[in-house]
Amino acid sequence: MAYIQQHATETPVPVRLGLIGSGWMGAFHGESITRRVPGAVLAAVADPNLDSAVSVAAKLGAAKVTADAADILADPEIDAVIIASPARFHASLITQAAEAGKHVFCEKPGAQSLEELDAALRTVDAAGVHFQIGFNRRYAADFQAAKKDLAQGIVGEPQLLRSLTRDPGTGSIGHAARIPAWTIFLETLIHDFDTLNWFNEGAEPVEVYAAADALVEPGLRDQGFLDTAVVTIRYSNGALAVAEANFSALYGYDVRGEVFGSKGMVQAGRATETAAVRYSAEGLSADTPRLNVELFRGAYTDELVDFAAAVRARRDGTQLPSGAYTLTPGAADARRALAMALACIESVKRGGPVPVAEKAGV
Ligand SMILES: NC(=O)c1ccc[n+]([C@@H]2O[C@H](COP(=O)([O-])OP(=O)(O)OC[C@H]3O[C@@H](n4cnc5c(N)ncnc54)[C@H](O)[C@@H]3O)[C@@H](O)[C@H]2O)c1
Repeated sequence: MAYIQQHATETPVPVRLGLIGSGWMGAFHGESITRRVPGAVLAAVADPNLDSAVSVAAKLGAAKVTADAADILADPEIDAVIIASPARFHASLITQAAEAGKHVFCEKPGAQSLEELDAALRTVDAAGVHFQIGFNRRYAADFQAAKKDLAQGIVGEPQLLRSLTRDPGTGSIGHAARIPAWTIFLETLIHDFDTLNWFNEGAEPVEVYAAADALVEPGLRDQGFLDTAVVTIRYSNGALAVAEANFSALYGYDVRGEVFGSKGMVQAGRATETAAVRYSAEGLSADTPRLNVELFRGAYTDELVDFAAAVRARRDGTQLPSGAYTLTPGAADARRALAMALACIESVKRGGPVPVAEKAGV
């Protein structure tokens, strides 16, 4: 018996990724790379908390472990890095990675000030490396379906936009005292700002007016802690948007987006885990996602699939097919959303609207 078919097969060289920061998000990204991103390997893990790095590397089979990200950056076998350290280290890690010639995926925010971000992005530019920021919401199937409608003009000219994030919680935030100031804008609503910018592509955010308070943890109000916020945004094409966030939704993780335009409306996001609805004597009910990694499991995977494909194309000199709409969030997107978050901080301090172009600093 002979084979009826025989192809010459070439095993593609996998994209070798180094993880910098192996906490909550980094460990999940590591798991996605190992289990769900074809053609990518988690080659090394760095975390100053060596126990964390060792345990994540052991669980995921990463061969190299270090407490110092510099080891990963100096490693010629690593193509690219995933930065998932706390936000205050992002700008300097982006800079160091680009200087070492590594392609960069960085969790949001890219930096905590525009000065820092601009300096880091100049290094990225000079090194000619690929840069992607972790605005994972773009990769959720329903947000992409909405984007496709917008790109095809089905919704018409955007007039009103809405984006909301309600983090899952228990009604109190045990670790609130350890949450850095202004996190609600710099690390939470920054996702909503990117969603709105992406949905309203081609327009620039002109002005924001933010109101925020500690309603979940009122005892921490005097220390400047904020867990609830609403932002109105005026765009250059005249569209008006609202973004809102709260850190403690008892019913689970709730992320939604909406665009109302001259021809109709499109909505994305749902608060239920699946489309299944339970009918019983008590009425209707449904399960809800309790964690970001449940609601956005696919989106967190696909943003890394996109990143690995871009790194592979750069490394191997191949061309990526162009899509029907813009997808990959890059340097300009990181900057635009950060400028909005910083303007929101200034708006809360002043109690009035703030032009986004003012480039407020924290
Ligand atoms: N995209 C999303 O939906 C999403 C969700 C959660 C967190 N995040 C982002 O991911 C980043 C990390 O958040 P987290 O919740 O995983 O925090 P975390 O505290 O759980 O993990 C951070 C890890 O970084 C390590 N670290 C500290 N300094 C470092 C350095 N200089 N170099 C390398 N590692 C360092 C810490 O030891 C820790 O293990 C933040 O920027 C956060 O905003 C994004």
